[in-house]
Amino acid sequence: MTTRINPSILAADFANLEHELGRIASADLVHVDVMDNHFVPNLTFGPQMVGRLQQVSPIPLDVHLMISDVDRWAPGYAELGAFSVTFHAEATDEPVALARRLREIGARAGIALKPGTDVEPYLELLPEFDQVLVMTVEPGFGGQSFMAETMPKLERLSRVVRETGLDVWLQVDGGISLDTIGIAAEAGADTFVAGSAVFGGEVPADRIAALRDAAVA
Ligand code: DX5
Ligand code: ZN
Repeated sequence: MTTRINPSILAADFANLEHELGRIASADLVHVDVMDNHFVPNLTFGPQMVGRLQQVSPIPLDVHLMISDVDRWAPGYAELGAFSVTFHAEATDEPVALARRLREIGARAGIALKPGTDVEPYLELLPEFDQVLVMTVEPGFGGQSFMAETMPKLERLSRVVRETGLDVWLQVDGGISLDTIGIAAEAGADTFVAGSAVFGGEVPADRIAALRDAAVA
C-alpha cells in the first residue's frame, strides 16, 4: 500500500515559508490549512498566500479548507493550481456539485469530516471524491491529541473503498505522531498529515522518514 506523508505548514515558521518548504521536499504533498475564524476559531491565510506557496513549493499542495462559504471560495484554490482541495462536509449543502467543479478545474476533490460528523451519509458519494479526510482532532489548531474514537469511521470507509474498488485516498489529520500513525494506518488510512511531529524535529526530513517507517511497521 502507498503511504503518503503530508507535513502541515501550520507548524512551520511563517516568516520563512519558502525555506520551510525546502526542508520537507522528501514528503509527498504539503498540507496547507486555510482557516477563516468563522468555521473554526482560528485564522491563517487565504488565496494570495496559497498562490505564492504554489509557485515556490517543490512538492504539490494539499489544501485543507477550514472555512465557511466553500462554494464561493474553494474553486479559487483549484484555479491557482493546488493538487488537491478538501472542503468540510459541514460547510456546504452541495458537496457533489462542489466536488465536480473542483475536478473540472483539474484538482483532486476532497471531503473532510469533523470528529462528530457521521460518515454514513457520505459513503454513497465516494465516487465523486478523490480523497476523504477524517479529522482526528477538532479542526482549528495544531498540537492537539489524537482522538482514537474516530477510527471506526476510517475502518468503515476503508471497507467500502476496498469493496467498491474505488481509488479514494483516506487521510487523517490531527495528532499524528510516531505513536499514533500506526493506529491510523491499521484502521485504513494511507495519507497522513503531520504538523508538530514533522516541524518539531531538528531535521524535518528525518521525521518524515521515521513516520513513513512507523506507518508500515
Ligand atoms: C488542525 C489542522 C491540522 C494541523 C495538524 O485543524 O487541520 O492540519 O496542522 O497539526 P498536528 O499534526 O500538530 O496535530
Ligand atoms: Zn489540516
